[in-house]
Amino acid sequence: MQQVQAIPTINRNSHDIHKSDLYLKNYGLYFNHLKYTPINLLELGIFTGGSLKVWRDYFEYGKIVGVDIFKVNVPDSSGRIRTYQGLQQDKALLAKIAAENAPEGFDIIIDDASHIGELTKKSFWYLFNHHLKPGGIYVIEDWRTGYYKKFIDGRKFKQVGQGNSPRTILQSALDRYLNNIQDKPLLTKIVYKIRKLTTKKKFSSHNYGMVGFVKQLVDELGMDIITGPEGGGTAQHNQNCKFLSMNIYPGQVFIFKNYTSELSGEYINS
Ligand SMILES: C[S@@+](CC[C@H](N)C(=O)[O-])C[C@H]1O[C@@H](n2cnc3c(N)ncnc32)[C@H](O)[C@@H]1O
Repeated sequence: MQQVQAIPTINRNSHDIHKSDLYLKNYGLYFNHLKYTPINLLELGIFTGGSLKVWRDYFEYGKIVGVDIFKVNVPDSSGRIRTYQGLQQDKALLAKIAAENAPEGFDIIIDDASHIGELTKKSFWYLFNHHLKPGGIYVIEDWRTGYYKKFIDGRKFKQVGQGNSPRTILQSALDRYLNNIQDKPLLTKIVYKIRKLTTKKKFSSHNYGMVGFVKQLVDELGMDIITGPEGGGTAQHNQNCKFLSMNIYPGQVFIFKNYTSELSGEYINS
């Protein structure tokens, strides 16, 4: 039997890093192929700088840039860590950081700053569209703050749409009726049409804070359908999805940027 090689997790090296073991394991999985590459990494949210040091140790040839609302001094003898003070949602600052450190675009961007949906969304679309390389990886951390009942834009989760609604009761009744009238084709046709009308149903969902934003991002994976004739779009050609894929874990979202150059267009949320 073929041996499956385990990909090592990322070592904390006793730095003060605010990331769980699962986060570090996932980072090991997705960053492993870049470990010895001269990558440019941007992290939003520095705190004491522990994570910047972990990235510096892991990416031996990497340039590591951090930004935080507070001024943080991160002692570093390698000269490969650079920090900025400012807001994650400040596009002018982000443009300056990119111009000074990664004019060709960042290879990896990690958002571990405010964990507020609106701010996360602003940084995401600006950085993703303008300053993430094709094939680059954008990670959003702690997206589940939208479920925290006391978080600034979070809300207690309410179970929705699990029980029997008037619609599902009607559907079951129509299904039973359809079963009993199979020998009456005209009546079957009419009842079947009514049954079809009950099918276009909107699924309710928890859409607060980062949870709502992450759910919005799923639409990007349908953009080729949305913009094409199947979705009723007006585009001449279906617009490709900007994402190659989006992998969601308890706490982290990994988004892989598509390679196609036409995708740098700003047709949504720029
Ligand atoms: C969870 S800590 C970062 C931890 C660090 N990345 C680590 O893994 O060790 C979040 C940081 O984001 C900063 N922050 C909060 N809101 C921000 C904003 N709007 N813009 C920039 N930084 C922000 C906070 O000051 C705090 O230092």
